[in-house]
Formats: sequence, structure tokens, C-alpha cells
Amino acid sequence: MRAIGIGLIGWGTVGCGVIQTLRDNAEAIENRLGIPLKLLKVADLDLDRPRPVDVPRELLTTRVEDIMNDPDIHIVVELMGGLGAAKTFIKQALENKKYVVTANKALLAHDGNELFEVARRNGRSIGFEASVGGGIPIIKSLREGLAGNRIDTLFGILNGTANYILTRMTEGGLSFGDALREAQAKGYAEADPALDIEGTDTAHKLAIASAISFGTPIQFDSVYTEGISGIAPLDVQFGEEFGYCLKLLAIARNTDGRIEMRVHPTFIPRDHILAGVSGAYNAVHIHGNSVGNIMLYGMGAGMLPTGSAVVADLMDIARDILANTPERIAPLAFLPERLSLIPI
Ligand code: NDP
Ligand code: HSE
Repeated sequence: MRAIGIGLIGWGTVGCGVIQTLRDNAEAIENRLGIPLKLLKVADLDLDRPRPVDVPRELLTTRVEDIMNDPDIHIVVELMGGLGAAKTFIKQALENKKYVVTANKALLAHDGNELFEVARRNGRSIGFEASVGGGIPIIKSLREGLAGNRIDTLFGILNGTANYILTRMTEGGLSFGDALREAQAKGYAEADPALDIEGTDTAHKLAIASAISFGTPIQFDSVYTEGISGIAPLDVQFGEEFGYCLKLLAIARNTDGRIEMRVHPTFIPRDHILAGVSGAYNAVHIHGNSVGNIMLYGMGAGMLPTGSAVVADLMDIARDILANTPERIAPLAFLPERLSLIPI
């Protein structure tokens, strides 16, 4: 095997972040894996609209079948969003024995249990780090770094757009509508921004993170959800006067096997650690019975931070694919002979 072949569906905000990350960090990625990740095809509906990151014309296609039927493509990256067609493509990729990476938390929250079962049946996996917390490695931390713990609680800020709106209303004095338009222009918002402001996107992410934390199926319908669309500048100002800051929080708790999941705007004291999380940043606080308290913080949305999480999944899957080949370099995660070439 000379390269791990990648096919990408969706040349949008996150797609561009993945393409740029693969391009800018190609050497480091190859050094760490021992083999390159090669983007072989990019599918989108509109190939003429200008995009933030260019793709050579010969890689572009409007036909998703070109990706599904290409034997050199090992991993299909679904970054088109939405439920129906995205689900069909992911199932098709898995049934064609391809691995899948997706950032599509809406789809996983609704149909993740079914899709993970399709992956299992086909001996393949689905990477979904980018589906929760943008660039923050929340999924990896829960599944690997904290794997030896019983997770009791998880709470935090999991939507960059809502946090950006609340921050700009507080610090910039912007109206709700103007703050939302800024978040959209920066590529943080969902195609349908109602998902962000009504709390649904946060609930999607909480359902996924809770399932991993507590070892349950994904149970999106059990998340109590209230968004920020009813928040007026006056609410934010009153909170400020009394020393409080308004945040859209996601909260999950496991009490003796009873799982509680909720999303709602919450006044928190201005000196609380989450009060300092501003703009499109996200943060999640986790309590594990062995480790105690852990806090993860970083950019929760946007082109490159989300691209970073998708590429991390691609590299994890590449390591799995290589596990039974002579190219395998798993334990060190770098090639010593290559490092000796770098002048210090
Ligand atoms: P965009 O709308 O920017 O990009 C989606 C792209 O997919 C568009 O270019 C769209 O084309 C294309 N597309 C839609 N349908 C098809 C199809 N049937 N075949 C091929 N291409 C198609 O979305 P984002 O990049 O922002 O989001 C992508 C996914 O990542 C979503 O699931 C989102 O929830 C998730 N996500 C987004 C983050 C962000 O910060 N933006 C962060 C984390 C996750 P067209 O525009 O012409 O319809
Ligand atoms: N619309 C989402 C947000 C993108 O603003 O957090 C990242 O999942």
C-alpha cells in the first residue's frame, strides 16, 4: 500500500478545512503515519461556486458514485450535512467496505445506533470526533484518556454559534440578529441556524457524548432542550448587574444508572470557569471517579478547527488499516529515522 485514499463528500466550510489541513500538514502527517493520506476525489453539487480552498479540477465530481466505486478510496468523509442523503451515502460506503468519517452530529444523534451497527456488520468503523466540540478532542478523551473511569457528570458549552451570539450581545452590545449574522459569516452556524439557537445542535452533541460517557445507546429523544431564541439584550444586562453571565449549557449526569440530559440557558456566576469561555469557543467539564475533574477547552466550530478533528480521525483509521501491514508504526507515533533529519 502506497497511500491511504480519501474521498470527500461536501466541499463546504468543514470540507475546506480538511483539504487545507491535509495539504498544509502533509509532511507531518506522513511522518507520523509512515504513509501519506491522499485526497483522491471531492464531490459536491456545485463545482463552480468559489470556495475558500481550491481543489484541482481533476479531483472534483458531482457524482458521489465516483467515490463509492473507486477501489483506491479507503475512507469516505461525509461533510455535506443533513439526514436523508448523508445516511444513504454512509451506509453505502460501509457496505462497500470503506471506512467513514463524519462531522454530522444531527445524523448520528438520530440514526447513529443504526449506522454503528451497519459499520460493525461490515467490519468497518465510523470516526466522529468532529461531531462534538469542533476542534476539541472530546470523543477521544472520553473513549481513550478517560476509559478507565466511571463518568458521573459532563457539562459545558457545546455550541459555538450560541456562545458567539451571547458573547457579542454582552460584550459588543449587538442585537441577537446581528450577532447571528456574524456567526454565519464566520462559518460557525449550521445550514439551518435554528438548530444552533433552539439548542437542538447542543442536544445532538450531548446525546452523543453521553452515550460514550455512560455506555448507553444514543438517546437524543431523552434530552430536555431549550434554546436562546427568546433571550433579549435586557436579560443579559440584568444578569450582568447581579454578577451573572448567561450561557447555553449542556448537562448530563449519571445517578445510579439513571441518565439525565438537559440543554438550557443558565445564569452562572461571573467568576465560574465557564464564564470566561467566549466567542465560538467551547468547553466541557467532566468528572470521572478516578481522575476527578477534567476540563477540555478550544474552538468549537469553524473551518480549520473542525478540519483538525476530521484529520485526526483519518489518521486513527489509517493506523487501523495499516495495523496488519509492514508499514505499521503504531507504538511510537513517529518515525525516529525521519526525526533525525530535522536540524535542532
Ligand atoms: P456547508 O454547508 O458549508 O457544506 C456542505 C457542503 O456539502 C456544501 O458545499 C453543499 O453544497 C454540499 N452538499 C450538500 N448536499 C450534497 C450532496 N448531495 N452531494 C454532494 N455535496 C453536497 O456545511 P459545513 O461544512 O458547515 O458542515 C458540514 C457538516 O459538518 C454538517 O454536518 C455540520 O453539522 C458539521 N459541522 C460543522 C461545523 C462548522 O463549524 N461549520 C463544525 C462541526 C460539525 P451546496 O452548498 O451547493 O448545497
Ligand atoms: N453550528 C455548530 C456550532 C458547529 O456552532 O457549534 C460546530 O458543531
